[in-house]
Amino acid sequence: MSRVTIRHENPADYEAITRINDLAFEETAQSRIIHELRDSGEALWSKVLLNDDKIIGHLMFYKILLDGAPIAAGLGPIAIHPDYQRRGYGGQLIRDGLAEVDPAQHQIIFLLGHTSYYPRFGFSSELGAQYKSPWPRPAFMGLKLNEAAPTSGSLTFPKAYL
Ligand SMILES: CC(C)(COP(=O)(O)OP(=O)(O)OC[C@H]1O[C@@H](n2cnc3c(N)ncnc32)[C@H](O)[C@@H]1OP(=O)(O)O)[C@@H](O)C(=O)NCCC(=O)NCCS
Repeated sequence: MSRVTIRHENPADYEAITRINDLAFEETAQSRIIHELRDSGEALWSKVLLNDDKIIGHLMFYKILLDGAPIAAGLGPIAIHPDYQRRGYGGQLIRDGLAEVDPAQHQIIFLLGHTSYYPRFGFSSELGAQYKSPWPRPAFMGLKLNEAAPTSGSLTFPKAYL
């Protein structure tokens, strides 16, 4: 049986992370976003999933401002190597990444993604639609982790995403 571990990225992983993202998305835009988020200091935490010591998955969280306040975060990009998709690894990375959130600091998590996938982790298009963002519904989704979070407002995304 293979051994699966998840840990924070380190610079020695950057090349493998780029490769996994380019393979999973079949383009380089997402790996460019990852580099820009690291360079601009807007990356929050970024983790890799290893299968028997080989990196096969990656997930980053990044800063989002809500009415100018650093109380929100974005989930993404997330990528699983095409040979390992649909085996639950993406779900493991998402649950692990969400467990890193301090809800006192990051009260709502947003993402843009498949509506058939993210609701199982609690994300909702209805919540996403309550906030002003450049992204269309229903793909733009939110997950509230703190009941005190504002119920509306304007979101500011990193330049890398615009
Ligand atoms: C999306 C992704 C991160 C999911 O990770 P995963 O390990 O494959 O997913 P899990 O095994 O945890 O969950 C499986 C579910 O993912 C969903 N899923 C996977 N790929 C999907 C896709 N391209 N479109 C819609 N849903 C997808 C399905 O609901 C699937 O359930 P099913 O097998 O019953 O159909 C991974 O497939 C991937 O890297 N895809 C390419 C890059 C990408 O699209 N990233 C996300 C952008 S929102």
